[in-house]
Amino acid sequence: MRIWLGLSLVAFAAFGCFPSTGQAQMIVAHRGASFVAPENTLASFQEAWQQDADVVEGDFYLTKDGAIVCIHDKNTERTSGGTAKLKIEDSTLEELRAIDVGTWKAPKYAGQKIPTLEEVLATIPENGKIFIEIKSGPEIVEPLQAALKKANLKDEQVIFICFNEEVVSQCREKMPQHKASWLTSYKQNKLSGKWSPSLESVVKTLKKTGATGLGTQANDTVVTPEFVKAIRDAGIECHVWTVNDPQQAQRYAELGFDSITTDKPAEIRAAVTSENK
Ligand code: G3P
Ligand code: CA
Repeated sequence: MRIWLGLSLVAFAAFGCFPSTGQAQMIVAHRGASFVAPENTLASFQEAWQQDADVVEGDFYLTKDGAIVCIHDKNTERTSGGTAKLKIEDSTLEELRAIDVGTWKAPKYAGQKIPTLEEVLATIPENGKIFIEIKSGPEIVEPLQAALKKANLKDEQVIFICFNEEVVSQCREKMPQHKASWLTSYKQNKLSGKWSPSLESVVKTLKKTGATGLGTQANDTVVTPEFVKAIRDAGIECHVWTVNDPQQAQRYAELGFDSITTDKPAEIRAAVTSENK
């Protein structure tokens, strides 16, 4: 596999169409350093910065009373360890803050609360960035804009990522000072073997939404050098999630990705650094 990819990349370089930007990849801590710490908690984000992540990624919803909170699932069942099942968008900040979202991971994280956007932003160091994954619909865009106005961060430190095309479009329209990636995964048709969305459809959606980047699922069959070249030719950045295997991370580094999102920032940084030597 690695030999095939190597030959393929050499061929691309020889024909002057190598997809890489030639820059090192940003290492993005997925839900914080979520392999060791409870995802989307302040403990997880602090651990990510300690592991020297360039960027933290977190998932955000709008609550019933207009707060923006950091949690992946639509409700609290999994990360409360089954002790509370509150739907985020039907709950108030106070109700959500009463829940322990640390113990399910390990007893030492007991007492970790669902953080607000403001609390997560406050962890970001001067040279750090955040991928804000928007899990709510377009109704979150204006409250998000208001929250970011109050934050003490430079425009380039905040990047939106989202699966919802309408939300990406609205972010680009209302907050063009921030980059925004459209996220996609892929499904294979059992009969034809074809993957969707197709490359053509991916490029079309990126252009339609005005996205500055693609956040692609790490599907090694779909994401080939030709795929990356087509995205780059459209003037779009390439970001990949979620890569915890060092060899797979090296593959995406060789493909010239702008960032690699991982639950294990220190380990994946070491893997791609040795690849670049
Ligand atoms: O970075 C994008 C990735 O986080 C999307 O998937 O399910 O982890 O939010 P998910
Ligand atoms: Ca996410």
